[in-house]
Amino acid sequence: MGQKTKARMTRSQIIALFAAAAFAVGGSVVALTILADTDQVAVAKQGTGVASVGGPFTLTDEDGNRVTEADFIGKPTAMFFGFTFCPEVCPTTLFELTGYIEKLGPDADKLNYVFVSVDWERDGPAELATYISAFDERIRGLSGTEAEIAAVAKAYRVFYRRVPTDDGDYTVDHTASVYLMDSEGQFVGTISYDEDPDNALAKLKRLAEAA
Ligand code: NI
Repeated sequence: MGQKTKARMTRSQIIALFAAAAFAVGGSVVALTILADTDQVAVAKQGTGVASVGGPFTLTDEDGNRVTEADFIGKPTAMFFGFTFCPEVCPTTLFELTGYIEKLGPDADKLNYVFVSVDWERDGPAELATYISAFDERIRGLSGTEAEIAAVAKAYRVFYRRVPTDDGDYTVDHTASVYLMDSEGQFVGTISYDEDPDNALAKLKRLAEAA
């Protein structure tokens, strides 16, 4: 808990850090816009190789239970990768997702919502449990060992990288898109960080209706 308090930054520090992080992940944002385009994804599914997003993983949920990709088969899944110390992208995305879940109404229960922390050193089940309690209760929080996180990130083509901060701590640059998987665990597209809210909600609705 002390570490969390220590990591809390002033507003100007957060802005500076976020600007630096946004600059640093510029390359991955460009790469992900390819995946974000529905037509591109459709093309990719026909065999260009980009469609191999997703796959087997073993992680631990916020209650300490071991989970695999099989636990999410049967319902489509909205999956997001980040870390609990994230100053901007993760809280914003989870806040927005909470709003979409509310707007989906009864359809919201047709989907799984998963937040995976790529910060294997600082985020475990207890940290995830505390963090996700600020958002919709249907959002699950998964963590893993260094090797487990490396494996799931590789499977989902998620970029993450530790970046040292001035205070001797570190932040984590990471892919900012929400991954959408169908009820069989097949990748169907993404919601980008700056996606129009109506588009984002429409994508989740389509995912729920296809369930
Ligand atoms: Ni983040």
